[in-house]
Amino acid sequence: MMNENQRLEGQQIKEANPSDKKSDKDYSKFFETVYTPPSLKDAKKRGKEEVSYHKDFDIPEEFRGMGKGRKFYIRTYGCQMNEHDTEVMAGIFLNLGYEPTNTTEDADVILLNTCAIRENAENKVFGELGHLKPLKVEKPDLIIGVCGCMSQEESVVNKILKTYNQVDMIFGTHNIHRLPHILNEAYMSKEMVVEVWSKEGDVIENLPKVRRGNIKAWVNIMYGCDKFCTYCIVPFTRGKERSRRPEDIIQEVRQLAAQGYQEVTLLGQNVNAYGKDFTDIKFGLGELMEEMRKIDIPRVRFTTSHPRDFDDHLIEVLAKGGNLVEHIHLPVQSGSTDVLKIMARKYSREQYLELVRKIKAAIPDAVLTTDIIVGYPNETDEQFEETMSLYREVGFDTAYTFIYSPREGTPAAKMQDNVPMEVKKQRLQRLNSLVNEGSAEAMKKYLGEIVEVLVEGESKNNPDVMAGYTRKNKLVNFKAPKTAIGKLVKVRVTDARTWSLNGEMVDEMVEQLEAAEVN
Ligand code: SAH
Ligand code: SF4
Ligand code: F3S
Repeated sequence: MMNENQRLEGQQIKEANPSDKKSDKDYSKFFETVYTPPSLKDAKKRGKEEVSYHKDFDIPEEFRGMGKGRKFYIRTYGCQMNEHDTEVMAGIFLNLGYEPTNTTEDADVILLNTCAIRENAENKVFGELGHLKPLKVEKPDLIIGVCGCMSQEESVVNKILKTYNQVDMIFGTHNIHRLPHILNEAYMSKEMVVEVWSKEGDVIENLPKVRRGNIKAWVNIMYGCDKFCTYCIVPFTRGKERSRRPEDIIQEVRQLAAQGYQEVTLLGQNVNAYGKDFTDIKFGLGELMEEMRKIDIPRVRFTTSHPRDFDDHLIEVLAKGGNLVEHIHLPVQSGSTDVLKIMARKYSREQYLELVRKIKAAIPDAVLTTDIIVGYPNETDEQFEETMSLYREVGFDTAYTFIYSPREGTPAAKMQDNVPMEVKKQRLQRLNSLVNEGSAEAMKKYLGEIVEVLVEGESKNNPDVMAGYTRKNKLVNFKAPKTAIGKLVKVRVTDARTWSLNGEMVDEMVEQLEAAEVN
């Protein structure tokens, strides 16, 4: 079934025509249409080809009833980008007539939307595929699909082809809009359907979406990444940087505001590169945030920022505040200029600190959070200490911390590494203690203060307690009636923990909400 020519040619896009199968006795031709494996080599290319922009996605008429009487289940791993892709896929499923379910046992289609960022993220998915095997044996008509970033890796696709025959379909991050076709192929074929394009990717508008919740929403502003940090798989799995047009983003956010959403998070792997690919207009993240300020929605966030492209104009716009929150996630990765150089981050410790200084000067109460990798190949004790000292110097509120995980195909994976795992673990532990300390300290500052909380729902442990986040992304728990859900309320902080705050809603607010409950 493997067509070597096609493999070498790379990612030729062939439209799978669902009617082919019934009339076609030449199965090899059929497999050609459904076997498009990934190629890391192709994924690395950054050509001058225009990104094609498709304005009007639509579900082909012939697939509309496909999901009648069937249920879908999607499990999502990884970052917000994946979470949002899941919302799009759920939208496609609903348009095909499927119903959602939240148990795998009940599902007719199970999709694992995967993450490739570290080895343990991948191991979780392989473990889950193992767990699903008995279900497939019990229900042979069940369709199991693997999508997301792992699908873009050749080694993963080969491993699944070889050892996970419970999988019916694999499709990539650039193939989400092809879900109706891929599903159709999976129903008709006895072989595993593989459709992973490694080409640079398009921008497709008007994809259906089923958002999780009606309070906060994610909005993609760009796709892909061209930074090629030496440890990172994302530029391979997500293709080249390509921005959505400002008018499409503005329209989406306006619609969300009109629907009553209280918060949007603008998404991209490197949002500071937004607009750099436009050839006809000069319009970057600063300009986009300026437009966001004009929209009547209480909070606008963005993630993730790369320090390298964070320019003065953006700082100037953010400093105007309004609905632009004063929380910036600014991954530093390391405090050592030498390590940053090997990581190809393209800034030094000093340049990062200078950027932080500028942000704090313009936005005095800005909260900064970060991502850090410890145990990079050959990281010395001194270099690690530089990360610790930078952490203290910036005074981050919190951080996501990781032990370096080699990713096949990336430059760092080929580096010799003289740091034993034991040492890496000790470094992570020390860094995590510092992160905890910093977080607890940051929380203490809120004691006695009144904060604005966007109420998201009941707290995990107690239905009488509501939970929500402040503008600076602090989790707050407090007693409130259910009518508070979806509203911005004022809470006085009475207790500061390491990762959350407890508080009481201020009196006037309680009265209003209780009145709403009675009415
Ligand atoms: N685009 C974002 C990061 C996305 S990945 C950015 O550049 O900021 C999220 C985080 O995972 C990264 O910031 C990095 O800290 C971590 N990460 C990425 N690749 C990794 C690897 N190979 N090993 C360990 N951590 C990694
Ligand atoms: Fe990965 Fe670097 Fe791109 Fe972030 S900026 S996604 S870390 S390559
Ligand atoms: Fe993971 Fe892909 Fe996001 S590798 S972190 S799901 S972009």
